[in-house]
Amino acid sequence: MIKLKKNISLKPYNTFGIEVFTDFFIQLDKAEDISTFIKNYDDIPKPIYFIGLGANTLFTKDFSGTVVHINTKGIQKYKETTDSIYLRVQAGEIWDDFIDFCITNNFSGIENLAAIPSTIGAAPIQNIGAYGVEVKDSIEYVKYIDLNNFNTITLNNKECQFSYRNSLFKTPIKNQFLVTEVGFKLSKTLQPILEYGSIKKRLNSLGITNPDIKQIADTIRQIRADKLPDYKILGNAGSFFKNPIIPIDNFNKLKDQFPNIIAYPQNNNTIKIAAAWLIDKAGLASYQIGGAAIHENQALVIINKNQAQAKDIINLCSHIQIKIKLLFNIELLPEVIFV
Ligand code: EPU
Repeated sequence: MIKLKKNISLKPYNTFGIEVFTDFFIQLDKAEDISTFIKNYDDIPKPIYFIGLGANTLFTKDFSGTVVHINTKGIQKYKETTDSIYLRVQAGEIWDDFIDFCITNNFSGIENLAAIPSTIGAAPIQNIGAYGVEVKDSIEYVKYIDLNNFNTITLNNKECQFSYRNSLFKTPIKNQFLVTEVGFKLSKTLQPILEYGSIKKRLNSLGITNPDIKQIADTIRQIRADKLPDYKILGNAGSFFKNPIIPIDNFNKLKDQFPNIIAYPQNNNTIKIAAAWLIDKAGLASYQIGGAAIHENQALVIINKNQAQAKDIINLCSHIQIKIKLLFNIELLPEVIFV
């Protein structure tokens, strides 16, 4: 049975810890709940917003509709070959619990994505990524319900149109679908990716030259903990902005002016700029508006420092965007979804 609750605080359902209310709230705990939800869909007050961990959502005001919390659990093997294991995972599983499951079973491919706050269902939507790995590299399929006709659709990896922090689910079919399950293909032997950032350095400092999957995940967790605040203590949504991708010609002009600028070459004569560096260079580290502030250890993260209201975060976001535009002529776009 699913219950339509009224006037519920969304504070526990967004990692910014913003206190806003939704008119209606439903939690889906198992497959039957999803069926019941779909059967009654026409009667459920609209608009509807689906939420997993709420780690990439900024509720800008009270929500006059229904927030639906996806809490379905389950990890099952559906295929195995000599080298690979194929797992179907329900949308409400917590991403980091799935990482632990993979560590315990020695399934490799996503260990560099340890400690990312997300649910399984949310992970493909913005193609979560960190430390040289993106979730798209391990996804076989994404299963969702099309809310226009209630058909269940399974898209293979290519059909999901993944790119940097983006997928089909963020563009044309936005808000008209409910992701129910994701299929993963993982390797039964460790395929370490240690080149990115300080992973190798930290492992070396611990005297580890041949790390196992747990040692890699633990190292990533430590690196993240050093610079990314724990949302349970200081509300935040990870990187607030995407790293902007600009034409290489524009970059070369910037480089003359700012020789230390940090950037990573992409395909098609473009280059990805470290937005954290831009914000830092603009002198905005620790900058605060109301209760919202730029995190001192990672300039790409906006924190709820002191009972921030959504408007503080929105104002801080605009302030950063304007400064970066004026100084570097670059548009910073939020990674976080404004609701
Ligand atoms: N930097 C600064 N100032 C700062 C922070 C960083 O100059 O305050 C410089 C760093 O020295 C570094 C560069 O900027 O050379 C990039 O910083 P970092 O390696 O910390 O990564 P990022 O580009 O800020 C991205 C992802 C993170 C992911 C890390 C690690 C995006 C938008 N963010 O951050 O993802 O964990 O790389 O792979 O792509 C997220 O999406 O929520 C997220 C946390």
